Amino acid sequence: MSASRFLLAVLVVGSAVLCTAAAPRALAAAAAAMASRHEKWMAEHGRAYKDEAEKARRLEVFRANAELIDSFNAAGTHSHRLATNRFADLTVEEFRAARTGLRPRPAPSAGAGRFRYENFSLADAAQSVDWRAMGAVTGVKDQGACAMHNTSTHTHAGCCWAFSAVAAVEGLNKIRTGRLVSLSEQELVDCDVSGVDQGCDGGLMDNAFQFVARRGGLASESGYPYQGRDGPCRSSAAAARAASIRGHEDVPRNNEAALAAAVANQPVSVAINGEDMAFRFYDSGVLGGACGTDLNHAITAVGYGTANDGTRYWLMKNSWGASWGEGGYVRIRRGVRGEGVCGLAKLPSYPV
Ligand SMILES: *[C@@H]1O[C@H](CO)[C@@H](O)[C@H](O)[C@H]1NC(C)=O
Ligand SMILES: *[C@@H]1O[C@H](CO)[C@@H](O)[C@H](O)[C@H]1NC(C)=O
Repeated sequence: MSASRFLLAVLVVGSAVLCTAAAPRALAAAAAAMASRHEKWMAEHGRAYKDEAEKARRLEVFRANAELIDSFNAAGTHSHRLATNRFADLTVEEFRAARTGLRPRPAPSAGAGRFRYENFSLADAAQSVDWRAMGAVTGVKDQGACAMHNTSTHTHAGCCWAFSAVAAVEGLNKIRTGRLVSLSEQELVDCDVSGVDQGCDGGLMDNAFQFVARRGGLASESGYPYQGRDGPCRSSAAAARAASIRGHEDVPRNNEAALAAAVANQPVSVAINGEDMAFRFYDSGVLGGACGTDLNHAITAVGYGTANDGTRYWLMKNSWGASWGEGGYVRIRRGVRGEGVCGLAKLPSYPV
């Protein structure tokens, strides 16, 4: 059963219980405890609802998510923990509609295109890599709920693709020039709109790299700051180029050794399934085990390593703020055959 079906089942069961007139005392106590947990969570996340009906509806969503999260953590069989983070009162559909934003395309056949690290020997690579320690990663950013021009489309919404691409360009720029400059996602959101990429309505990192290469560079974050909504392209702000690239290459599909060769050399954009509860509610540890592999979100691989218990992991930078996961980062299990955990090996690419 998929996570969303399970959620639905829990919702249905949950409301059936609520509608029982003579609910046993224990259930009433549990309901009161959940309501008070929701109140606490609202205070912690500064959440306010427009009226009591909305609050009651949100409590039901929160309850369903919290019960899933609690039972996941209580199982004691997982290598990572989940938390009722700030997404805990959103249904998976609402979450998808606002916080992700990848428009994947069919993967080209294996071997398509040049891969400059094909002869890079992993035997020569460091056992662990952390581009943060080398000063090639800017602070964790927050894509927020990117607001669209066109609210009739709610399938891919969000601009994860811009944050993922920008983090990879920031890394390459630091490696090339020695300077770490925070770069502009908003320029991509506003100006890269003539092809597949559609600002807050989703996009793809490869297209963003092509756009930056064609345009001759990207503005800095301070020169063209993030607004969290679609806007007109500000050509004067975009004219001050803070970094440039020549193009991009794709990492061979479903090949984590190739991905490691690339990440040993530079931060790499990675597409994943970001709506699976295993990822959405990730709190800490190494995310492994069940996670969907349909691609709908994008993050950036900024390293890899091995945990104390021997589990090998990827270190990934997300764009959901520093309160998500491990300070805004996630460690995801490395060396799983095929598409990788959450599909991470399906569509990686990097700027050159
Ligand atoms: C890798 O090595 C092969 C064999 O020597 C060579 O043909 C190929 O061009 C090399 N690839 C790159 C990207 O340098
Ligand atoms: C909004 O998106 C829908 C669905 O893709 C499309 O049919 C419509 O033309 C779009 N409207 C505008 C104003 O772009």
